[in-house]
Amino acid sequence: MNGNISLNHIGIIMDGNGRWALKQGKNRVYGHTEGVKNLKNILEISIELGIKYLTVYAFSTENWKRPKSEVDALMFLFKEYLLNEVNNLNKNGIKIVFSGRKNGLNDSLIKLMDDIEEKLKYNDKITLNIAFNYGGRAEIVDAVNKIIKETDKKIIDEEDIQNHLYQSNIPDPELIIRTSGEFRISNFLLWQIAYSEFYITDKYWPEFNKEEFMKAISSYNKRERKFGGLKI
Ligand code: IPE
Ligand code: IPE
Ligand code: MG
Repeated sequence: MNGNISLNHIGIIMDGNGRWALKQGKNRVYGHTEGVKNLKNILEISIELGIKYLTVYAFSTENWKRPKSEVDALMFLFKEYLLNEVNNLNKNGIKIVFSGRKNGLNDSLIKLMDDIEEKLKYNDKITLNIAFNYGGRAEIVDAVNKIIKETDKKIIDEEDIQNHLYQSNIPDPELIIRTSGEFRISNFLLWQIAYSEFYITDKYWPEFNKEEFMKAISSYNKRERKFGGLKI
């Protein structure tokens, strides 16, 4: 990173596709389509900036509450993104991992996700962690259940939980960006954000461009991170 303080991992709550589309008289699905295009753009810029990990919130465990037609459209767009982009991602050295529950997803989608993780696993320019059917609470519950299943521990510590998260090898995000102005976390990365810095912008996700991204990073660069200690 060119910045003053280290910035290796950014998490993004890509919110506001629906509002963005409705504002211009289009339907919500159009907003999601443009949202996917913007992800491609922000991923490219992240590589240019030397970011090593980008975690994007694409579908939450609570998004199943939406009308079936919208859920179906989101599933379709996700699959289409993976199918259309896999070669490009590979060519650009991008590794993809998925965080979330496979339970509830279509079998052919699960197979595609597994195949893509396998195919891109040696890439090392950037890791794109796609949080899909992801919930922060579900992740912690899943971690604890893995510990129960794999060990005979009666008492666990933070390291045990850390080591059983979906992506135990990815360092915590230094910066979390949320588009569309809501001041909430909506069940994103609850464990990992203990000391993350937050940046919230009113811009909707499809209009969150390079200029807006640079504003987020420059805001982050002015922060004083103390982790509970004192400034030295
Ligand atoms: C974010 O945009 C994408 C997903 C949650 C899948 P929204 O669909 O939440 O858009 P708004 O918040 O309704 O505008
Ligand atoms: C968070 O956005 C989830 C994703 C961006 C995938 P939501 O639109 O689902 O969050 P709420 O409902 O406004 O909290
Ligand atoms: Mg939303």
